[in-house]
Amino acid sequence: METIQVLIIDYGSQYTLVIGRTLRELGVRSVILPPKKVEKWLKINTPKAIILSGSNWSVHGEGAPRLPESLKITGKNKPYSILGICYGMQLLAYKLGGKVERPLAHREYGPATVQLNIRHPLFAGVKEKTQVWASHGDTVISLPKGFTSIGKSAGIAAMSDKDNHILGIQFHPEVVDTKEGKKILQNFLNISGCKKDWDPVNLIHQIQKEVLDTVNEKGIKDQKSKIILGVSGGVDSTTLARILAPVLLDRLICVAIDTGGLRKNELEELKENTKSAKVKKLVVIPAEKEFIKNISATIDGEKKRAQFRKVYQKIFAEQIKKHNAKFIAQGTLATDIIESGKAGQSAMIKTHHNVGLSWKVKDLHPFRNLFKYEIRELARALNLPSAVYERNPFPGPGLYLRVVGTPVSKENIELVREADKTVNDILKKHNLLKNISQLIVALLGINSVGVKGDERVYGYSLAIRAVQTADFMTAKGYYFPEEVVNEITNALTKHKNIVRVFFDMTPKPPATTEFE
Ligand code: XMP
Repeated sequence: METIQVLIIDYGSQYTLVIGRTLRELGVRSVILPPKKVEKWLKINTPKAIILSGSNWSVHGEGAPRLPESLKITGKNKPYSILGICYGMQLLAYKLGGKVERPLAHREYGPATVQLNIRHPLFAGVKEKTQVWASHGDTVISLPKGFTSIGKSAGIAAMSDKDNHILGIQFHPEVVDTKEGKKILQNFLNISGCKKDWDPVNLIHQIQKEVLDTVNEKGIKDQKSKIILGVSGGVDSTTLARILAPVLLDRLICVAIDTGGLRKNELEELKENTKSAKVKKLVVIPAEKEFIKNISATIDGEKKRAQFRKVYQKIFAEQIKKHNAKFIAQGTLATDIIESGKAGQSAMIKTHHNVGLSWKVKDLHPFRNLFKYEIRELARALNLPSAVYERNPFPGPGLYLRVVGTPVSKENIELVREADKTVNDILKKHNLLKNISQLIVALLGINSVGVKGDERVYGYSLAIRAVQTADFMTAKGYYFPEEVVNEITNALTKHKNIVRVFFDMTPKPPATTEFE
């Protein structure tokens, strides 16, 4: 599959995701990374274009995020074109010796009119005088050497270097109120030589071809060799199964593990989903006892994940051997790889259960460059049922990550499973599930005092966390209406051992989606 052509560096603007979405509407895929993760990502990827987002920061602020050290912004033969938007433009100008200040007369908040140099390729086909949306206190008041102003509003509205490769605009092209913003972004894609690469049907064919080429590679003697695909019933593995089933035919064996950490009815849903993915062979391995035995030895989140991975890997290795398979495929996404510290400079946040495992056979990660919202579009294009493409994600280690601060046991996993079902049913009744990207119900293993029927009780609490996010790299907490908070609290504290219910609205960062 083609590598990602556009890197968007997220300096914290609330519109960063809109930049990504607009590019996708223009048919081009992109990756959005926070500044800290950029250096390492650039070491292993060369995008054609880099967009620097806006921000609330001033370049003069202490601790303000900077340009990545390795970013090539001077010299000839630049490997990529760069477009700085708002703060992004100020960062470029500041770094290259221009002046950024806060003159009162230059500040703009909301609609503004700009006068553009329409001979510049960035503004080709755009009206000379056009309405834009801007929001900035700081402005570039003097340009770096070698740059020219290519747009004017209250102050300098746009700048370009001599080669037209390092560009800055003070307004926001991604916001719909910028009338010709999409055209400007398209022009930038043209300048940087980006080709359309976001077409679900094309992408599906590319993935099928890439996998077929690999499994039929010369030197692989057995052209009938089996390929194991780990499935969980979730959108990623179901979509991958649906993509691979028609090309791998009998060679594809889907393997699901009943880890004991699944939610209520999840196994049935998994079977339904693999059926709709037209999978011919599904093997379900019951392994609850083995997982509980290994994971209950520790309450440390990372150690639990390590134990989970160990058992997970062992079971798959046994299946590979049993079926004499030569490949293992998994629905690992770009986000999983980034969070596991395998891409970019990302500090390892969590060891995802299926990233970085070593196998005796070749492993395939056909979705390694894709994000969740892209997989949902593939699933739609494949006519999978809405139950698949609208499905909230659920981590491989499942409910084991949702018993926090106390060892997992069959009983407390069951408690969380029931509580999760209760909360889901309440949210479904109030038609709120559509607003939430992921719901987490976790058992907090700290004893606290409560009173039930005039009796003192000393027991655990449950935490409810619902988040909204586009790609799980960042997320914000979802605020339930008061009546829903009360209904959930009443329902959950009916359990004799549950004393309190906490609602967790912390965004990511600083928190992560899951508790462990
Ligand atoms: P965090 O908690 O890191 O989670 O914000 C981001 C998304 O990834 C899911 N997640 C996992 N999925 N294996 C998975 O398949 C894992 O080990 C894993 N850990 C986290 C998490 O539920 C959320 O959707």
